[in-house]
Amino acid sequence: MATRPGGAHAAKARKHLTHPVRVNRLALVRVLFCAPMSPHKEVLVRPKVLVSRKVFDEALALLGKHFEVESNQRDVPFTPVQLVKKLQGKPGAIVLLTDIIDDRLLAQCPELKVVCNVAVGYNNIDVKAATRRGVMVCNTPGVLDDTTADFAWTLLLAAARRVVESDTFFRTGKWQGWGLMQFTGYDVHHKTLGVIGLGRIGKGVARRAKGFDMRVIYTDVQRADEATEREYGVMYVDKRTLLRESDFVSLHIPLFPETRHYLSDPEFALMKKTAILVNAARGPIVDEKALVKALKEGKIAGAGLDVYEKEPKCERALISMKNVVLAPHTASASIETRTKMAMMAVQNCIAGVNGQRPPNLVNPEVLAR
Ligand code: GLV
Repeated sequence: MATRPGGAHAAKARKHLTHPVRVNRLALVRVLFCAPMSPHKEVLVRPKVLVSRKVFDEALALLGKHFEVESNQRDVPFTPVQLVKKLQGKPGAIVLLTDIIDDRLLAQCPELKVVCNVAVGYNNIDVKAATRRGVMVCNTPGVLDDTTADFAWTLLLAAARRVVESDTFFRTGKWQGWGLMQFTGYDVHHKTLGVIGLGRIGKGVARRAKGFDMRVIYTDVQRADEATEREYGVMYVDKRTLLRESDFVSLHIPLFPETRHYLSDPEFALMKKTAILVNAARGPIVDEKALVKALKEGKIAGAGLDVYEKEPKCERALISMKNVVLAPHTASASIETRTKMAMMAVQNCIAGVNGQRPPNLVNPEVLAR
């Protein structure tokens, strides 16, 4: 072990990355051994990688060209103990959001060089611990922005126009014929959309609002430049103003300790009674108990949720609320996008295990140590 925390691991990462020519393209390790009564034989041993959950066949096929792949195609997440066991002796891992990669796990998997999340968010990984231990962390940014923005809009429209509730009504045979007052929801066009977090997905959501002739306001830790504001037709406001003025509030910020419960009682108290909240970012950004209270007390009108504080569960009360649309964390779930995400994770893994810089490295500081 190194005398400074993570020193040996960091040195490991450096060594692999500063001498890429030592490793051939297929990352095949040549091992010589002598068998009794036979001449020297050369055996090719390929690095081992773990795929922690079910992924697309083409991702497995590409990985298989480079590595010895162990993959959990049962699609039931490993327990933390199983995950450690499976990762031991493997330099590469393709993991999903349901896999918790913490310091305790990393400490028990010293051979691990690269952890590739098949997701843009990586709050399931302790990046600081990984960096300290010389482990590269990768994600899949960019490819899911439009698909996720589409879905934020799906939730917004579904909640505003009571689509799920109407669908259930129809399917259960309750519809007896047209009625003027039936399923009246909220207009979306010409209203005010509040985008919290004007990153790539937030921009996608804002851009789509143009087609609905909406006024779009946004807030973020940093104000965008003038050209960006003009391009997306958005106006910067502070958080309180956004909450007070928006008819629809859509969250697009990452989950960090400082964004946990970004919306709680005081924030719901500021919102319009007719407002609808959309969360396709991360569950813990919203204080779910406070959300339930706000919905019950009529402080806001509804919500479209794709993410929850304690997935796969949510506050029980949400289940019976007709003014809430609940999706099972599927905002990026189009076949095209999820395939691209898996292939990106594979490319990250190939590069990382082969001693090259992965294209989507979250912790580049791991290379500078
Ligand atoms: C999904 O939630 C992702 O972060 O990609």
